[in-house]
Amino acid sequence: MSFKSVAIDGPAGAGKSTLAQRLAEALGFLYVDTGAIYRTVALAVLRAGADPGDEAQVIPLLEGLDVRMGYGPDGGQRMYLTGEDVSETIREHRMSGAASKVSALPAVRAFLLDFQRLQAREHNVVMDGRDIGTVVLPGADVKIFLTAAPEARARRRLLELERRGQAADFDAVLRDIRERDRQDETRPIAPLKQAEDAVRVDTTDLNLEQSLAGLLALVKEKIAL
Ligand code: DC
Repeated sequence: MSFKSVAIDGPAGAGKSTLAQRLAEALGFLYVDTGAIYRTVALAVLRAGADPGDEAQVIPLLEGLDVRMGYGPDGGQRMYLTGEDVSETIREHRMSGAASKVSALPAVRAFLLDFQRLQAREHNVVMDGRDIGTVVLPGADVKIFLTAAPEARARRRLLELERRGQAADFDAVLRDIRERDRQDETRPIAPLKQAEDAVRVDTTDLNLEQSLAGLLALVKEKIAL
C-alpha cells in the first residue's frame, strides 16, 4: 500500500508546527516536525562542546549519534537523544541559532535525509520543515508553503516564548527571525524556497482556525480521503 504525504515548508513562526500538528490530527496522519530533528542534532553538538557551524567538528559526532523520535500520550512528537527526552530543551531560545547553523551543513542534511524519508515510507505523514517539498519528499501528494510577514511571526514567537516562561523582547526576536530567514534562504544546500508545485498560504491576517480550515480544504482537494 502506498502512503500519503503532505509537505509543509516555510520560515520560522509562520505557524507551521501548530498547524501541521493540527492538520495531522484532523487527517489521522503522523506528524513529523523535522525542525525538531535538526534541533536535537544541534543539542548533541553543543553538548559535545563543538561548534555547530564547523563541519569538521560536527562530522565525527554524527557517527555515534543516537537520535530517535517518539510520540507522547497527547500525540505530540517527542525527541530523544541517547535515550534522554530532550523535547523541552531543544525549544530553548539558544537552540534556534545552533539548529540553523547545523542545518546548513551538507553532512548533517545528508545524514538526516533517510531518517526523514523513512517516516513517509511507513506512514501517512504531515511533515513540516524547510525543504520537505523540494528535497525530502519531492513526490508529496500535497505541498504547502506557509508564510507570514516577519513582524507577525515575531509576535507569535514572543507569545510562544512567554508561554514557556522565557523572557524576550520583540526587537530581539524580530532580529533573530530576519537573521534566521537570511541564513535559511541563502545557504547553498537545500535553501528555504517554495517548491514550484507548492501552494503558498500567507497566514499574516489569518488566525489558527482560519488557517487550519484553509489547509484542510487544500488537502481534501488533492487527496481522496
Ligand atoms: O522549524 P525550526 O525552527 O524548529 O527549525 C530549526 C532549524 O532547522 C531552522 O533554522 C531551519 C532548520 N531546518 C532545516 O534546515 N530543514 C528542515 N527540514 C527543518 C528545519
